[in-house]
Amino acid sequence: MNEKGVLTIPDAFNEISETLSTAESILDNAVDNAKTLFHTLVLSSHDEDKIVSRVMVLREFNPKERYLRFHTDARATKIKHFQKNSNASILGYDPALKIQIKLQGYVEVHLDNDVTKASWNESTTRSKKCYSVDGGSSLEIDNPAEYDLKDGNIEDGYLNFAVLKFKYTSLEFLYLKSSGHRRAIHSWDEDLVSSWLVP
Ligand SMILES: Cc1cc2nc3c(=O)[nH]c(=O)nc-3n(C[C@H](O)[C@H](O)[C@H](O)COP(=O)(O)O)c2cc1C
Repeated sequence: MNEKGVLTIPDAFNEISETLSTAESILDNAVDNAKTLFHTLVLSSHDEDKIVSRVMVLREFNPKERYLRFHTDARATKIKHFQKNSNASILGYDPALKIQIKLQGYVEVHLDNDVTKASWNESTTRSKKCYSVDGGSSLEIDNPAEYDLKDGNIEDGYLNFAVLKFKYTSLEFLYLKSSGHRRAIHSWDEDLVSSWLVP
């Protein structure tokens, strides 16, 4: 990290393995670093024949098991979309790093199980509060003020809490810099296969 709290990355990428290790460092750093735009990623998925995208806060990155964890409201319509078609894509870019990361994979929905319990227990009171809102995400309403966060028993919100694990099968790295643009794709079937792409 430099003095501005920006992750320090190589100035040039000549080894393809460095593009993957840098992408992994960026995502690892982004879990707790709210200053990088990789902390809030865009997750796109299917609603029948439509593509839907939304910004979500990155809660965990596990490069070994190749997943990213997100939290959401169990009442959100996107839960049904993921259950019907789990294919999804993640996109992030931070101009401070000049790097774009694109991930392809699928979403695993977790509702009231060991994963949700562990994630709920490590959530802050502020985060937990969001799940006590009446009605739930995406409900059409007349007066938004009636749905402002209120004090109450925040632990009741657990019933409305869901975890999304996005498991990726490919990671694309793009670095746009005048010293030389670099684009690389890393895919996992059984083993990792990496290739440079024309930027
Ligand atoms: C900065 C920011 C962070 C957000 N983080 C989350 C999040 O972690 N989980 C979530 O479900 N929605 C999050 N949202 C809201 C979503 O972008 C989206 O509006 C909401 O989940 C409803 O999306 P849906 O209609 O696809 O279900 C966030 C929005 C912003 C602007």
